[in-house]
Amino acid sequence: MQKQLEIHLQDEAATVVAGRSLAENLDNGLVLYLDGVLGAGKTTFCRGILQAFGHSGAVKSPTYTLVEPYELAKRKVFHFDLYRLGDPEELEYMGIRDYFQPGHICLVEWPEKGRGFLPEADLIAKVVPEAGGRKLTIMSGSELGSTIVARML
Ligand SMILES: Nc1ncnc2c1ncn2[C@@H]1O[C@H](COP(=O)(O)OP(=O)(O)OP(=O)(O)O)[C@@H](O)[C@H]1O
Ligand SMILES: [Mg+2]
Repeated sequence: MQKQLEIHLQDEAATVVAGRSLAENLDNGLVLYLDGVLGAGKTTFCRGILQAFGHSGAVKSPTYTLVEPYELAKRKVFHFDLYRLGDPEELEYMGIRDYFQPGHICLVEWPEKGRGFLPEADLIAKVVPEAGGRKLTIMSGSELGSTIVARML
């Protein structure tokens, strides 16, 4: 069953905390799509997830490289930013299948640019400006995703 949760994030720190709490409810791999306009806070949310898995540095947007790999103590995390992807087919040439493996956490900004060549999302996180802060909606796209949202509720 599709499940969804909605929270208000009053500032950047709240977005990081939300990413951390999502990560704390993951015990395996995951495909997460991040939805939202330019500057919505998608990378900020990813920073929270990466911190929860042991990353302490900055999180740069892999806009030109398309993907930034993080081999962390707890998990392998791949952060995609497909904004500059010209043609979804290019994902084949970059060996997309090697990234989307069981146990890997794949975070994908601008997933619509890779339509047809990306695996389906377990979760979709949508960030929308609201009252000075942001509204975060997390929706499930698979059974695994529903389990995670249920845990977070
Ligand atoms: N809850 C929030 N309230 C107010 N500002 C926020 C919030 N969360 C993040 N921001 C701010 O939004 C700005 C853009 O954040 P971020 O780079 O994460 O966006 P993005 O969605 O990844 O953008 P892009 O589409 O360019 O990749 C940053 O300045 C960040 O501090
Ligand atoms: Mg970004």
